[in-house]
Amino acid sequence: EMKLVTCTAPVNIAVIKYWGKRNEELILPINSSLSVTLHQDQLKSTTTVAASRDFKEDRIWLNGKEENINHPRLQSCLREIRRLARKRRSSGDGNSNTLTLHHKIHICSVNNFPTAAGLASSAAGYACLVYTLAKLHGLEGELSEIARQGSGSACRSMYGGFVQWIMGVKEDGSDSIAQQIEPETHWPELCVLILVVSAEQKPVGSTAGMRTSVKTSPLLKYRTEIVPKRMKEMIEAIKRQDFELFGQLTMKDSNQFHATCLDTFPPIFYLSDISKRIINLVHRYNSHFGETRVVYTFDAGPNAVIYTRKQHVDEFVEVVKHYFPPEENGEQFLKGLPVNPVS
Ligand code: DP6
Repeated sequence: EMKLVTCTAPVNIAVIKYWGKRNEELILPINSSLSVTLHQDQLKSTTTVAASRDFKEDRIWLNGKEENINHPRLQSCLREIRRLARKRRSSGDGNSNTLTLHHKIHICSVNNFPTAAGLASSAAGYACLVYTLAKLHGLEGELSEIARQGSGSACRSMYGGFVQWIMGVKEDGSDSIAQQIEPETHWPELCVLILVVSAEQKPVGSTAGMRTSVKTSPLLKYRTEIVPKRMKEMIEAIKRQDFELFGQLTMKDSNQFHATCLDTFPPIFYLSDISKRIINLVHRYNSHFGETRVVYTFDAGPNAVIYTRKQHVDEFVEVVKHYFPPEENGEQFLKGLPVNPVS
């Protein structure tokens, strides 16, 4: 007998960035953050979990290659899910599946986008893993606390639409959870465009990068004072569908995050020359129209994520094609993925 469950989880792109932990073990951040979860079919992870009494040990395959199951963060997620399943079973609520608790599991996870290119693959991956394991055990309810222990940003992918990760204050992390601000249907005109500058692995991963930033960057400490106000303003902008304010805050926060990287010692560079050309292009484009029509944000990599509204997508894609002709950039040309509507 074998039980199989398959789920998918989408990527989320932060507009107020998470960078820095106050507790590395539990993955507790030094500031709250906010993101937009993309449409399910666009950039996503798909995970299948199989449970069987015939399995001798837990195993995992990522994009077809077997990986070490003893990875500490993976173990945290497995342990926490099993702990929750035991708790639910003994308290008798939910339809927690007793059988699967005693079985070893095989996990198979694939992404439909380049891994570790600063495209938040770990976010979708861990969100998907935790959700699929929960389904296997018949668990429901708040799971972002567990996803967070796989990868911080993963907790935000547990919800659709506009999501905040509240930093929390408790030592045990029980109040460091994700919360939906508005559902995916809230702002139908909002579109996301990914400009793939490079699909290569980033030189410094986010975990190591933020560890060095916490140790060395004074600007990061200052950021903890700034973010609470920004979070409030961003939530207001989203609720009012105020694209101007949403855009200004998003670009400023991306820039401040990359300034923090430069303030880290030794410095970390995620933006490439092409990234910087995109930043300039967006500002020139917006100032031409005297309003914010397109917005950029960059995570721990050179790829640009563009937020815009439906009515400006085609026009901006033409502009990008004009300034970054495929011939000129060779392999490096910007590939505008099909527009990813949020809803
Ligand atoms: C720049 O969630 O990948 O994308 O918690 O160490 O796994 P760990 O880091 P991770 O960091 C994401 C950083 C970011 C900003 C963000 O998504 O908020």
